[in-house]
Amino acid sequence: MPSIRMRPEIAALPAYRQGRPAVSDGYKLSSNENPYGPLAEIVEALGRAEVNRYPDATGPALRAQLADRFGVTAQEVHLGAGSVALLSQFITAVAGPGGEVVYAWRSFEAYPGLVTVAGGRSVPVPLTADGRHDLDAVADAVTERTRAVIVCSPNNPTGPAVGAAEFEALMQRLPSDLLVLLDEAYAEFVRDPDAVDGSRLLRRWPNLVVLRTFSKAWGLAGLRLGYAIGSEEVLDAARAVAVPLSVTGQAQLAGSIALRHEDLLLRRVEDIVGTRGRVLQGLRDLGLDVPDAQGNFVWLPLGDGTAAADDVLHAHGITARAFPGDGIRISIGEEESVSRLLEAAAALPR
Ligand SMILES: Cc1ncc(COP(=O)(O)O)c(C=O)c1O
Repeated sequence: MPSIRMRPEIAALPAYRQGRPAVSDGYKLSSNENPYGPLAEIVEALGRAEVNRYPDATGPALRAQLADRFGVTAQEVHLGAGSVALLSQFITAVAGPGGEVVYAWRSFEAYPGLVTVAGGRSVPVPLTADGRHDLDAVADAVTERTRAVIVCSPNNPTGPAVGAAEFEALMQRLPSDLLVLLDEAYAEFVRDPDAVDGSRLLRRWPNLVVLRTFSKAWGLAGLRLGYAIGSEEVLDAARAVAVPLSVTGQAQLAGSIALRHEDLLLRRVEDIVGTRGRVLQGLRDLGLDVPDAQGNFVWLPLGDGTAAADDVLHAHGITARAFPGDGIRISIGEEESVSRLLEAAAALPR
C-alpha cells in the first residue's frame, strides 16, 4: 500500500503528550488540574442537558456574563473549546507559511505544535536563569516576518508572572499591527502585586488579546472551555477560523454557573494558593532551587537530573510532569498530597 502523502512538517510532528495518569494510591500532579470536584449545581445541570441538540454556536449568554465582568462588549469576547483551541485559531489566523511566532521558551508545550500546524515558524526566546520571560530579547526577536508574539503569564511550567511594567514596555516597543497573545491560563492564582493583568489593558492596546480558561481555577478542565477578550476585528478572524460548534452546550452552561458561584470557587483558589505556599516553602527548606510560583504548580529546574528525580517521585506515588534534560513541573493538588510530595522530594538524589 502506498503511504498517504502528508505535509512533511506534520508527518514529523509528535502528537500532544499529556501528563501521566496517577499511580494507584498516589497523586496526579502532572496536568495542573484543580483538585476540587465540580459544584453539585453543575453536575445536576449537565444531567439535564439536551445533548440531542447542537449547542448555540457563539455562546451568547456566557459571553454576555463575561463581557459584563470585564467591562467589554459581548463581541469583544470569544469562546473556545479550551484556551488551547483559541491559541490555535489566532495563530492560524495570522501566521501561515513564512510567518513567525515569537514566544519565550520553555513555555506551554502546545505552542510549537500549534505554530507548525498553522504552517508558521516558531522563534523561541530563552527564559532567564530564574525561569522568567526576557521581554527585551522577545522584542529583539521580532522582525518583518513576525505575525504574533505569545506571552505566558504566569509561565507554564516555570511559574513566575510577567511584571506589569515590563509588559507595558514590551507593548510600547512592538508594532501596533502585530498580534500579542497574553496567555493568562493561571491568572486567578497570581498573588504577585507587580504582575501584569491583561484584563486591564485591553482598551489601551487594540493589538492585544487576553486568553483565559475555565480549566484551572474554575475546575472545568474536562468540559473544555476557554475565552479570549480583545478587539472585535481580531476576534472575528479567530471566529472565522474556528471549528464550528466545538464549544458544547454543557461547557457553556457550566461556565455560566461557575461564574455565578465565583465567591465559592475563588475561596477554593485561595486554598490552593495556600497549599502552593507550603509546597514552595517545604521544597526550598529541603535546599531545592524553586523559582517563584504564581500558577497552580511549582518547577524544579533539575537539568540532567530530571529523569532520575521523576523516577523517585513516581516511586513515592507522585506523578509529576517531567521535561527530560530540563526540569519537573509539579501541580498543586489535594492538601493530603503535600506531605507525600515533601517526603518524596527529601529522597531526591543530590
Ligand atoms: C499556559 C497555558 N495556556 C493554555 C492552556 C490550555 O488550557 P485549556 O485548553 O484547558 O483552556 C494551558 C493548559 O495547561 C496552559 O498551561
